[in-house]
Amino acid sequence: MRILITGASGLLGLNLALELCGEHTVFGTVNQHPLHSKEFSVIQVDLLASGALESLFEQTKPDWVIHCAALANLEACEADPALASQLNTELPRRLAQLCKKTRRDVTRGGARLVHISTDAVFDGARGNYREADEPNPLGVYARTKLEAEWAVAEADSSAIIARVNLFGWSMGGRRSLAEFFFNNLSAGRQVMGFSDVIFCPLLANDIAHILVHMLELGLSGVYHTVSGECLSKYEFGVRLAQRFGLDAGLITPTSVQQGGLSAARAPDLSLRTEKLAAALGQPLPSLSPALERFYTLYQQGYPQKIQGLGEKG
Ligand SMILES: NC(=O)c1ccc[n+]([C@@H]2O[C@H](COP(=O)([O-])OP(=O)(O)OC[C@H]3O[C@@H](n4cnc5c(N)ncnc54)[C@H](OP(=O)(O)O)[C@@H]3O)[C@@H](O)[C@H]2O)c1
Repeated sequence: MRILITGASGLLGLNLALELCGEHTVFGTVNQHPLHSKEFSVIQVDLLASGALESLFEQTKPDWVIHCAALANLEACEADPALASQLNTELPRRLAQLCKKTRRDVTRGGARLVHISTDAVFDGARGNYREADEPNPLGVYARTKLEAEWAVAEADSSAIIARVNLFGWSMGGRRSLAEFFFNNLSAGRQVMGFSDVIFCPLLANDIAHILVHMLELGLSGVYHTVSGECLSKYEFGVRLAQRFGLDAGLITPTSVQQGGLSAARAPDLSLRTEKLAAALGQPLPSLSPALERFYTLYQQGYPQKIQGLGEKG
């Protein structure tokens, strides 16, 4: 398949591109962060520029589009809500419209869209959310992501809307919570771990294969695409420390109220995955195998490899 992945310099997009380029023809877009890969085609483009999406589709002729590009930093969204709305809502709306349009062109076959959304569409007051539960986004990031879900579903009802939470190795080496724990604990630094924030993170690399399976099955609509195992961020840090042989005692369990973060964080973002598990015919991965793969990637030099992709030569 020809797969267009937007946001290929980001945490999710880069891991998806590297994971899928062995079996598919992958095109990955970047904007401000250069990326040099021999394994997939890198296209530098500001997706908000006039005509950018149309040229990108003309150039890549994708069968599948996995839309990861976003303003995913909560504090940046609070600081610039207009940009957050452009990137997180209007861009996916136009992408969905374009995918639908390409499918009307019988000579082209057309593109199917996976739009990446977030567990943060919920307020986290209750937890254990199903797809049909009422979202209640707490900040600009979450609101613009929820509005994107509505916009995408309206523009292209055959799109997949995957609400994810994830960890993985990133190009900058600091994008994911797993890297936060790994970097600090490796350096012997004490850190806080929120004991009252619950999430269900999947390994970005595993998400690649789950999304492909969803596309192959022809799914559409909203799916909770998260781990079958939910835990606190503190517990996550401890489990990671144990797997890497690091000192879990350096992690101090802390309440999010004491964390000093400016953008609101939802406390219990445990999501139910029965809908997707039934469609896939298997449960979503739990944390242990995901951490095992994360550790194996580390042993194989994967963090250095992807950090090197940001450097020329
Ligand atoms: N990270 C998480 O824990 C998490 C949790 C839940 C959901 N999600 C969702 O997962 C998706 C991916 O998140 P992520 O963490 O991988 O994001 P990320 O690391 O912040 O990467 C964002 C990507 O968007 C690209 N981008 C931003 N503005 C652009 C523009 N104007 N034109 C083209 N590209 C642009 C960036 O390109 P440059 O850097 O090259 O400018 C980068 O590749 C997002 O939809 C996010 O909402 C993430």
